[in-house]
Amino acid sequence: MCGIVGYVGPTLDGKALDVVMEGLARLEYRGYDSAGVALVTDEGIETEKRAGKLENLRVALDLRPLDDSRTAIGHTRWATHGGPTDGNAHPHRGGENDKLALIHNGIIENFHSLKRELLAQGWTFLSETDTEVAAKLVGREFDRTGDLTQAMLAAVQRLEGAFTLLAVHADQPGVVVGARRNSPLVVGLGEGENFLGSDVAAFIGYTRHALELGQDQIVTITPDGYDVIGFDGAPAEGTHYEVTWDAAAAEKGGYATFMEKEINEQPHAVADTLLGRTDESGRLVLDELRISEEQMRAVDKIVVVACGTAAYAGMVAKYAIEHWARIPVEVALAHEFRYADPVVDERTLVVSISQSGETMDTLMAVKHANDLGALTISVCNTHGSTIPRESDAVLYTHAGPEIAVASTKAFLAQITACYILGLYLAQLRGGTYADDAASVMHELQDIPAKISDLLGRMDRVKEIARFMADTRSVLFLGRNVGFPVAMEGALKLKELAYIHAEGFAAGELKHGPIALIDAGQPVFIIVPSPDTPHELHKKVVSNIQEIRARGARTLVIAVDGDEDVVPFADEVIRVPKCSPLLQPLLTVVPLQVFALQLSTAKGLDVDQPRNLAKSVTVE
Ligand code: F6R
Repeated sequence: MCGIVGYVGPTLDGKALDVVMEGLARLEYRGYDSAGVALVTDEGIETEKRAGKLENLRVALDLRPLDDSRTAIGHTRWATHGGPTDGNAHPHRGGENDKLALIHNGIIENFHSLKRELLAQGWTFLSETDTEVAAKLVGREFDRTGDLTQAMLAAVQRLEGAFTLLAVHADQPGVVVGARRNSPLVVGLGEGENFLGSDVAAFIGYTRHALELGQDQIVTITPDGYDVIGFDGAPAEGTHYEVTWDAAAAEKGGYATFMEKEINEQPHAVADTLLGRTDESGRLVLDELRISEEQMRAVDKIVVVACGTAAYAGMVAKYAIEHWARIPVEVALAHEFRYADPVVDERTLVVSISQSGETMDTLMAVKHANDLGALTISVCNTHGSTIPRESDAVLYTHAGPEIAVASTKAFLAQITACYILGLYLAQLRGGTYADDAASVMHELQDIPAKISDLLGRMDRVKEIARFMADTRSVLFLGRNVGFPVAMEGALKLKELAYIHAEGFAAGELKHGPIALIDAGQPVFIIVPSPDTPHELHKKVVSNIQEIRARGARTLVIAVDGDEDVVPFADEVIRVPKCSPLLQPLLTVVPLQVFALQLSTAKGLDVDQPRNLAKSVTVE
C-alpha cells in the first residue's frame, strides 16, 4: 500500500531519477492510483506528480524533463485520505519557500488536529491528504533546526498512526531521511550510493546488501553512508542481510503477466519451502524456530490470524494441524481477532500468515497476541518485514517475490509451511500421527512435479474461461480442505474479473445458498478424492446431483480416475491424485488459471486489479 523509493548517488549524472523511476516500476504493485517524484537539483527541489498509473508520470516527465540530480525520492500511491488526483499525489511540500519535499506510506491518525495547528500558524494546504500535514510539520522543524534528521526527529514525536516518511530538502542536497513506525522501510547499501525502499524490489537492480530497520527508527542516507537513530534520538542499529533473489525474479521473464509467471512458479514455491526442513531420516528439523520444544509441546490451542488468501491457507492449516497434531485450531480474520476479546494465554500459539509481512491488520493481531502473552509464530514470505520481527519465531515460506496483486504462489507456499508446522507439532507430541510425519513429508516432495503436470493440462480450463467471459456470477463449493479452496477460487474471480463469486461449504448449500441456483448458473465443485474419510466423496457427488437437478452448470474438479462424477458433470477438470489433506496444493491451481484467463478475456489488468494494492499497510 504505497511504494516508496529514495536514492542518493555520487554524481550529478541524472541517474537519481532513473533509479527512482525503476524502483517505482518494481513497486507499482503496492499501489497504482498516482505517482510522483522529487529531485534535489541546483535550482532547489523539483517535483512532478500525476494521477493514474506510473505511465502518466513517465509521459509528464518526457514532456517536461527535470534537471540532473543525485538525490531523489519517488512514490506510487494507494489513496487513503483524499482521492487519486494530481494534487493529492505525493510528494508534498513544506517549510519556508516549499524547500522540503516529503512522501508517505501509511495513515497519520491525528492529522486533523495537527492541520488545525498548522493552519493557525499560517501554513496553507494544497491537498486533502494527511501526508501534507507531515510535510508542513517536518518543513517547519527544518526551518527551526536547519537539519533534516533533527527535523524528522522532532516531527515524528507529534505523529500518531502508521507511517513511513521520506524527505529531502533543498538546503541539504545529497541527503535523504526516512522514518518508520509500523510501515515498511529497508535500506539498500551500494558503493558510493545508497537507497531506501518499501521493500528490496525498489533497489534490487543495484544492490543485494540490505539493512532492516526496527520500529520507530530514523535513517539518514548519504552517498557514503547511513546513520540510524531511534525516535528517542539515541543511536540505533539496523540488521544487515543479503537478498537471496535477483532482479530477474522481480521481472516477468517472458510471461505476459506477473500472475501467469507466478502461477507457473508454484512447483518451485512448494519445493523451496520444503527444502532443508528434514534430516536424512525424514524427521522435521526446525532449528529456525526460536521457541523451545518444551514450549511447543505445552501448546494447547492454536489460533491462526491472517487476511484474505492467507486466511484461506489458515483454514487449510486447521484441518491438517488438528488431524495430525490433535491440537484445536481456530482461524480468525486478523482484524476481527484484534478487536474481539479472544481467549488466549501463554499456552496458545498464535500463527500469523502473511506474504508481505506488512499487512497492518495482521500485524496488529500479532501485537495483540503478544500483549495477551501468547506464543507467536509468523509464516511469512518477506525477509526483513515487520510481522516476523514482532513475532517470537518465524517460519519463512520460500515463494520468491510475489508481484501480482492477486496471491497465487504465496498461497501454496503458506499451505506448505503450515503442513510443515502441523507435522512438526505431531512429531514433537508423539501419538498416532507422529510416525506418519516422515511419510507425509515424503509425499509432499512429489507435489511440485504434480503441480507441473497439472499446469500442462490447463488448455480446457482456459477455453472454459474464454467462453464464460460474459458470466455475471459463479459459485464455488467444497467440503473439508476443499472449502477454503472454494473460498479462494471465488476471491480470485472477484478481484481479477470483477465478477460476483461466492464460495460455500458444500454441506451448507441446502441451508440457504441453493436458492441461488437457477438454469445455467455456473458452479465449480471441488471433489475430494474417493479415499477421503467419512464418505465425503459420496456426499459431494450428492451435492453435485442436487444442484444439477436445479439447472446448474457443473464444473467439477476431480482427481484422475474418479469416474463417479462423470454422469453429473458438464465439465470435469482433472487433477493428479494425492492424500486428501494435501489436495488444496493441486485443486486450487485450475481456479487460479480460470480467474487469470477470464480476466484476460475481459481485457482487464491482471496484475493490478482496480481498487487493490499488494500490501495492505493500513487498518
Ligand atoms: C488476494 C490477496 C489478499 C492477501 C491479503 C493478505 O489475492 O492477495 O487477500 O492475501 O491481503 O496479504 P498478506 O499475505 O501480505 O498479509
